[in-house]
Amino acid sequence: MAENVRVAVRVRPFNDREKQRKASLIIDMRGNSTYIKNPEDMGAEPRSFAFDYSYWSHDEFKESANGYLEPTGGRYADQRKVFNDLGQGVLDNAWKGYNCSLFAYGQTGSGKSYSMVGYGSNKGIVPIFCEELFKGVEAKKATAGENEEYQVTLSMLEIYNEQVRDLLNPKSIAQKGGLKVRQHPSKGFYVESLVSCPVSSYNDIENKISEGTRNRTVAATNMNATSSRAHTIVAITFVQKTPNETGQSMTRTSVVNLVDLAGSERAESTGATGDRLKEGSAINQSLSTLGNVISALADLSMGKKKTVVPYRDSVLTKLLQNALGGNSKTIMIAALSPADINFDETLSTLRFADRAKAIKTTATVNESPTDKLIRELREENARLMELLKTGGITLEQLSANAGAGGQNPNQEIEEMKKAMEEELRKNQEEIENMKKTWQERLAEQENENKSNVDAELKKQEEKKVIPHFWNLHEDPALTAMIVHFTREGTSKIGNKNASPAPEITISGLSIQKQHGVVTNKGGVVKIKAIDGKILVNGAKITKETDLHHNDRVLFGPNHLYVFHHPQDEAKNFKEGKVTETPTYDTAQEEIAKKAGFMDKAGKSEEDLILQEDVIQMLPMVNEADAMSAELDKKVKFELALVSPQARGLKGGKTEVMVKMRNLENGNEWLWDRNKFINRKFLMQEMYQNYVEGADDWDVPKEKDPFWEDADVEVLIGTVHVHLMSLSHKLDIEETLTVTNYQGKENGHIEIEVMPCTPKGESLGEDDFLDDPKELVGKELNFKFKINFGRGLPSNMRQSCCKFKFYLDNQYTSTAYGDGMNPEYKFEKLFKFPKCSQEFVDYLMESVAVIEVWGKQKDTSSKGGATLGSDTKQLMAREKSNLFGLSNYEEEQAKLKKIGDNKQTPVKKKGGNKAADSNKDNGVIIPVPPPPAEKKQNDQQVNAYKKQADDADRRAKAAEQRAASSESQVSDIRSLLTQKKRGGADTITIAELEAMLGGGGGRSTTSTAQKEHMGDQASKACTIQ
Ligand SMILES: Nc1ncnc2c1ncn2[C@@H]1O[C@H](COP(=O)(O)OP(=O)(O)OP(=O)(O)O)[C@@H](O)[C@H]1O
Ligand SMILES: [Mg+2]
Repeated sequence: MAENVRVAVRVRPFNDREKQRKASLIIDMRGNSTYIKNPEDMGAEPRSFAFDYSYWSHDEFKESANGYLEPTGGRYADQRKVFNDLGQGVLDNAWKGYNCSLFAYGQTGSGKSYSMVGYGSNKGIVPIFCEELFKGVEAKKATAGENEEYQVTLSMLEIYNEQVRDLLNPKSIAQKGGLKVRQHPSKGFYVESLVSCPVSSYNDIENKISEGTRNRTVAATNMNATSSRAHTIVAITFVQKTPNETGQSMTRTSVVNLVDLAGSERAESTGATGDRLKEGSAINQSLSTLGNVISALADLSMGKKKTVVPYRDSVLTKLLQNALGGNSKTIMIAALSPADINFDETLSTLRFADRAKAIKTTATVNESPTDKLIRELREENARLMELLKTGGITLEQLSANAGAGGQNPNQEIEEMKKAMEEELRKNQEEIENMKKTWQERLAEQENENKSNVDAELKKQEEKKVIPHFWNLHEDPALTAMIVHFTREGTSKIGNKNASPAPEITISGLSIQKQHGVVTNKGGVVKIKAIDGKILVNGAKITKETDLHHNDRVLFGPNHLYVFHHPQDEAKNFKEGKVTETPTYDTAQEEIAKKAGFMDKAGKSEEDLILQEDVIQMLPMVNEADAMSAELDKKVKFELALVSPQARGLKGGKTEVMVKMRNLENGNEWLWDRNKFINRKFLMQEMYQNYVEGADDWDVPKEKDPFWEDADVEVLIGTVHVHLMSLSHKLDIEETLTVTNYQGKENGHIEIEVMPCTPKGESLGEDDFLDDPKELVGKELNFKFKINFGRGLPSNMRQSCCKFKFYLDNQYTSTAYGDGMNPEYKFEKLFKFPKCSQEFVDYLMESVAVIEVWGKQKDTSSKGGATLGSDTKQLMAREKSNLFGLSNYEEEQAKLKKIGDNKQTPVKKKGGNKAADSNKDNGVIIPVPPPPAEKKQNDQQVNAYKKQADDADRRAKAAEQRAASSESQVSDIRSLLTQKKRGGADTITIAELEAMLGGGGGRSTTSTAQKEHMGDQASKACTIQ
């Protein structure tokens, strides 16, 4: 019978960042309903959604002695409660022989992994499920008859960028393009040669899952992949062989898919609007297809006919086809962030979950006589073998392969043959497995595991006594997964191509064959860089440097480790020194600080949000730079904080953007965050192809993420035109400064605004207005002229000006002018037959913002060989101090000077509990630090903020100057009117100065005009 997918939502506590910036709570729950408030309108009625379960895990809990978060009030849903409601049902259904799927959806950091896998003693659904499953199996076994058997196998895979990697088979991880997804005529899609390990205890499963997670960490770090964009699927196959009433052996099978999806944020919008490469990256394909599949299935369940469900559009939806629309009992858990800043993402998660409620699946018990299963497989194999012999192809095969992609017929037939062979192999394997006793299979696996398990045990023991590095990762689940020992003697650090193999092998972006070396002499450990870049505690080292317990070490741009020294640790402990565990965020913060951002930051909410963005973006910018250097792309990236005014907007927030600079010709483009992140995924793809040795890693420039067309317009800057004179029907004629986002002057433009008749003829002499109010209800016509630009940046080939006047929806644009001193010769007649009060107010109070846009000269030589400098050299010549990392030695010297040589104190977290419990044997084992909570970096943001503030200040000063000269003009005009009325036709400068309070700084004529007028300027003016 068709059943609806069950949907639960769960809201997590505020993290440290959210607490620090005093985030507001926008989620509420009552019963099964969840309410969300719009932070822009907190008074309004919240939107409500009803689900099968709404779990409140935001507050009303405390941490118990072992780190478990337990309820203090009735409201809090702890891990056990979630398991009891959701996991237990999955378990019961698995016993009954149903396929089950449980998947977690939500934006990055919303709590998907917490619910699915959990952290430390807060075990999630997957481990509790496995634990309970084996408890059940053990209980059954205790009373089991001879012919009863319970078999559990486990596989674990990851989908990243539409490629499948078998996390239990490290060899497959390096396989180019990942594993193939094939379709079985009756069983649906499956992953070719995916390892499925027999497991006999919860311990086995735990070991396998940590092996998979370790493989995942290595792969993610080496490929500098963004782990939150990966989908992880743990599949547990549970087979029960029991005799039925007649004594016949029956096989009951349940496949349980536990899916931790990639972060859902900006699934649709990551492809930055306006970028020509927005569709280029496959990074979001699986998640956006999942959205489409769920919408289509929801439509179908509402009775909408002719809906095509696009399962085939992505790897994830192929593999989850059964879970979503077939033979499975399915549960979705949607993880919610509680904070105001995540409103859009959280609302979209709630909408997604709401749609998922409508989906129906039809689960059936998978039970057959064991003999029958074997017979069917044999028959199927015989049939396949026959087909292969005769070269025939079945309709099923054809349909299974249809849509595999525009190959030629021969290739397609080849593919199909391969598919059949694979199917044959798989069936054969299954028959073999069925024939083999389960005990034989287990014994085989145990043999295989033994060396791994022994090695792992040895490693755990050695960690207690041998100094080593353990990794930090952005994803808390991938932290402390990799360990490199620094044994007595010398350990070389290098990539996998180094020969002889280095003792510490790390691979990936900017890791050299001879990257560096560590020496350990009787426990005194020192590190030295050779060909690669190494940062210790955020600063680049240039000579041999001592390593101490809990030092942070970065190899290349993204291999971040903590150094653990057991003896140091024990000594510190004895001396009562608190040693604190660094986290990914504190380490990144430190790197950013050492890069030169030493100011003290303000603490407004906006500042803190900006700070987070900067800390998140800085490592990405560094990676993009490292890729550009290795691929010799001759571009450099920098962070830029851009105020709304500098983006031509009247209001809004300062945003973190990325400036890409062409190192050959100085051309620059400013990318918004989404565009940069999207481009960075494409850069990673290109880099990965390069690393894998693909001949065609480089692509035509139109598809190159490092390339931007010189024809793409860039904002040179803006100018502000005050309109007050116009409200007096007076001319405006000004040369205005073009100011860019950093507040830098980028040339001038000359504008004129001249009130006129509807036909554009000049007004009569008496046509000015003393009081702008007189304009209300009357007509106003004027010519808006933009004459020319002067002194624009020299790399500008062409430029134009764009502006919106009053209520315009559309921009008005001038024609393009050429070079540094373009002639725009733009003129437009504006007619307002009847001025409203609002319009007159607008003239009196507002400014017209003119944006100056340019196209840069295209002088770069792609590949750049002609210039004889490669990207690394060009970068070295760049004087950017933003990321010029300071030297460790200098830092140490500075610290010594002030007599303070302590390590950077890092806030102690609850996650150290397990470390504490190990204290009795005198050593402290590193424990995965608590999940990363991004810290702020005052200095860094402040440096950026200062830039933006300076720009703001300059813009404000310019505004004030303009406003005061507007009011002066107005004063002068009234004086002139009076004089005219009195019959005079001249006015002396002395009179003017007297009126303006003695002149001084308040000169009525601009310097430029004075120069133009020469000496006469100071004598007298003629009234016109
Ligand atoms: N219910 C909860 N109770 C307490 N802490 C939680 C809860 N849910 C999440 N957290 C904490 O929030 C942080 C982020 O959670 P988690 O790692 O599960 O996010 P995620 O959705 O898996 O993110 P990603 O997409 O990056 O993998 C972690 O520090 C985690 O411990
Ligand atoms: Mg996660």
